[in-house]
Parts: sequence; structure tokens; C-alpha cells
Amino acid sequence: MKKTGPKAAIFLDRDGTIIEDRGYLTKKEQVCFYPQSFTALKKLQKHFLLFILTNQGGVSQGLQSRSQVDALNEYVVEELAHRGIHITATYCCYHQRSDNCACIKPKNFFPLKAALDYDISLEHSWTMGDHYHDVELGINMGGRGLYVLTGHGEKHKHSLPEDLPHLKDIAEAADYILSNRSAIPSNYLTMKEAAQRLKNGEVVAIPTETVYGLAGAALNEQALLKIFEAKNRPHFDPLILHGSCISDIESLVEYFPEKALQLAERFWPGPLTLVLPRSEIVPDLVTAGLETVAVRIPSHPMAQRIIEMAGTALAAPSANPFGAISPTHASHVQRQLGERIDGIVDGGASSVGIESTIVGYWKGEFQLLRPGGIPQEDIEEVVGPLKSFRTQEGSIPAPGTMKRHYSPKTPMVLQPPGMSAPQKGKIGRLTFGETKYEDCPIQLNLSPRGHLEEAAIHLYDFMRKLDGMGLDLIVADELPKDGLGRGINDRLQRAATKE
Ligand code: TXA
Ligand code: MG
Repeated sequence: MKKTGPKAAIFLDRDGTIIEDRGYLTKKEQVCFYPQSFTALKKLQKHFLLFILTNQGGVSQGLQSRSQVDALNEYVVEELAHRGIHITATYCCYHQRSDNCACIKPKNFFPLKAALDYDISLEHSWTMGDHYHDVELGINMGGRGLYVLTGHGEKHKHSLPEDLPHLKDIAEAADYILSNRSAIPSNYLTMKEAAQRLKNGEVVAIPTETVYGLAGAALNEQALLKIFEAKNRPHFDPLILHGSCISDIESLVEYFPEKALQLAERFWPGPLTLVLPRSEIVPDLVTAGLETVAVRIPSHPMAQRIIEMAGTALAAPSANPFGAISPTHASHVQRQLGERIDGIVDGGASSVGIESTIVGYWKGEFQLLRPGGIPQEDIEEVVGPLKSFRTQEGSIPAPGTMKRHYSPKTPMVLQPPGMSAPQKGKIGRLTFGETKYEDCPIQLNLSPRGHLEEAAIHLYDFMRKLDGMGLDLIVADELPKDGLGRGINDRLQRAATKE
């Protein structure tokens, strides 16, 4: 099959970026294009698919109707088409922030939809707009965002982080993109190409909402062996199998206990892995010879699509060399494993950022085998108090839960916030919330607002950044011990373990 590969995209804000911002528009007579839009977009479309992505909260406030907004968007697209500019799709959020919808900027809902519908490499894609949320959208999707000073740009400029590039208008932004863009690597695949390779028994890195997984067909021993080899992973460490729906999973387990079904109903698709009695068809390579098998349904829409197209459940451990930091962007996989695997699907930044919570069922009891993307408290709402496998006699064997894991090359320590560094030298700090260290020039804050969800998203990326700075020591602050904090502390603890 000829390789086509994914494409790069630009997600363009409409008002204040392509056309003048004149409040909530209802009639096409109100549309006024910035004259520089036409040349800028013509230049960009040589290398990028163009999308318009606009928030029209006036609909929710009753100030414009949905059909007025749609007609106006159509008009903008037609006017651009008359000038030889092709807009691949227009995405519109009709809500206001208080509606708490899934699609408002800076949420990556629409870029992800575009990636699913048009095979977009989000990490090579850009956003552009006159609000900071346009830039945050670029970051959240795993690409880059540019701020333009037209529209509301000049007015809100003071609220931007200092180092953020801002451009005079769409023309300057286009030139900035064209001189800063990078080519999509030839081993990046479309979902269809990836599915074909998986069918052939090859191994491909795919995005999931937790971390990128190195996938191979679950029942194909050749593919399973390749996974272990590419990761340099010991064979005693069992793999998780991924389905796109519960019927993919049913044949892999001996049976679903009632309570496990309740967990599945509440948390799938999503970052929960269930360890259940295995069925006979599961190869020993998957389970490391255990009587149980780990299964999950990821919520990342591209992971689901790839599983469906491959027509098989996929075994997928995190796509990193054994023991190293897990990948939350396609470029992380590319740097660590690119040469050793048969391709990568870029699905943008993983939206959870740490691995799934693993819950095991054995002899009528549920145990927490690994804290992760779903807080223990939420799982206990369904099945009651969980036993922690480390403290229990007769617990389920969980051979892959090494003390040292997720580790940077730089030595690392984990300590309560506010403490001074345990040694001199070039120190980098990994902090959280309001904690600041006056004496330390290198600090990355996982979430200045103190949000655990945000901290999880940044965790591995920031560990990688610190690891690349040539430090003598990384000092990480412990996070609060509730909710996702438990999973994050677990990863930090293991990253800081020496042997
Ligand atoms: O979020 C995730 O779970 C990611 C994404 C790619 O889905 N996958 C992931 O896989 O973290 P991995 O291989 O890095 O971790 C899987 C761990 C094993 O190391 C082991 O601790 C546990 O799952 N596991 C797998 N099968 C098991 C079994 N039958 N019994 C006990 N533990 C098992
Ligand atoms: Mg705007």
C-alpha cells in the first residue's frame, strides 16, 4: 500500500483574526475581511489544511440564532473559496463558558475531531487567534498557538505570558508559521495505514488518553514478541489488551463479575484497566503466564478507530523503553523508539497524562494494582474499599509494578514541598501550586493553579524537559495525596527510586 501519511493543519479563529470582530454577527453584510487574510491563507494552504474554529457564545445567550451563525460561516467560506482558498471544515461552539460544554476553546475537542476525520498530525499543527484561549488551544492539542494583535489582541496583550510570540496580524502569523514549521516525519502514519500494519503483525505507537501505547495485535505472537523487543521489556511483565467496545473484551476474559461490569459501565471508555480471569485464547506472552489478563477500553477516539479498523484487540504497553519516562506526545515516542518500531500515529497531547488505574479482581475481591488516571475514591464508590496490593498477603501478583520506573536519566529525589535541596550543584525543581524557591533558577510548575488534572497532563513532559537540561539533580515536590495526586506521587516516587 502506498504511504500517504497524515497532514498538518491550521485552526483559525474567525472574528478578530480572519474578519473584523464586530460583536456577535447575524448578517453577512456585517462581515468585513481583513485584506491581508487572503494572501496569508493562500500561502498557508500550500502546506496546511485550513480549518475555521470559532466560539459563538451569542447563540447560547439568545443574541444570535444557530442558523444565522451557520449561514454566516458558510458565507465566509464561500467568499474565501471565490479567492481560491479552501477551508476544509468549519467548527463552531455555540455555547458560553458557563454552559460547561465539551467544545469551547481552549478545549481540544474540535482539533481532535479534525484529526479523526482528516488524519491530522496535531503536533505539526497550529492555532491562531486574538485571545489567549486560542493559544492555549494550540498547546492543549499538542501543537503550537499564535496570538495576533488584531481584534481583541491589542487589548488583552498584557495578560499574556512574557515569552509568548505575538504577531501583528494574520499576515505576520502566516510568515511566522512558514519559517517555523517542521516536516512530518515519514514514519508518522494515518489511522488506516496503522491498522494495516497492525493486521500484518507489525507494531505501531498509537495515542491514548493516558499515554501513547506501543500496539500490536493481541493474539499474534510475532507482534507480541516485537513489542517486548522494541521496548527491551522483560517477558515477566504482562501487557494490557485494548478493545474498542466491550464485545472486543468479552472473548479475552473468562467471565465478567457483576461488580467489574459496573466499573466498566461507569469508567469505560477511559483510564481504567481491569485485571480479570483470562480466557484460553489469550497468549501466555500477554499475561506472563498468569491466570489473569489486563483489559481496557481507551477513550481516545483515534485509538478506538484504529482498533476497529485493525479488527482485533491490541496489546499496548506504554511506548517507551522499559523503565524510562512514558510518552504523552508522538514526538516523545519518536525520540525514544522511532527507529525500533513500524510507525507512529500522532493523536496530539494525551489528555489524562498518566497511565490507567489498574484494578484487579481475584477470588471475590478488588485490589488496587496501580494508582492512575481515575482516582481511587471514584472506584471505591462502585466497589467499596480497595485493598492495596503492596500491603496485602495473598494479593494478586502484579509483576510489572517495579519500584524503579518512569525514570529520567538525571538523579531525582522526591520530598515534601518547601524543603531545601539536599545537595549543591545544578538543581532543577518540579513544583506544584503556589510553592516557589527563590534560590533556584530552574523550576517547572506542574500546575500553578494547583489542579491535579493539569499536573498529570504535564508530568511526563516536564520530567523530560528537566532531564534534558544537564542537571545534577531533579528535586520534585510531593503533591497532595488525594484524587489524581496518588497516581502522580506514585510515578514520582518510582522515578526517584535508585535501583
Ligand atoms: O494507561 C495505560 O494503561 C497504558 C496505555 C497505553 O493503555 N498502558 C500501560 O501499560 O501503562 P504498561 O505495560 O506500561 O503497564 C501495564 C502493567 C504491567 O506492568 C503490570 O503491572 C500490569 O499492567 N498488568 C498487566 N497484566 C497484568 C495481570 N494479568 N496481572 C497483574 N498486573 C498486570
Ligand atoms: Mg477572535
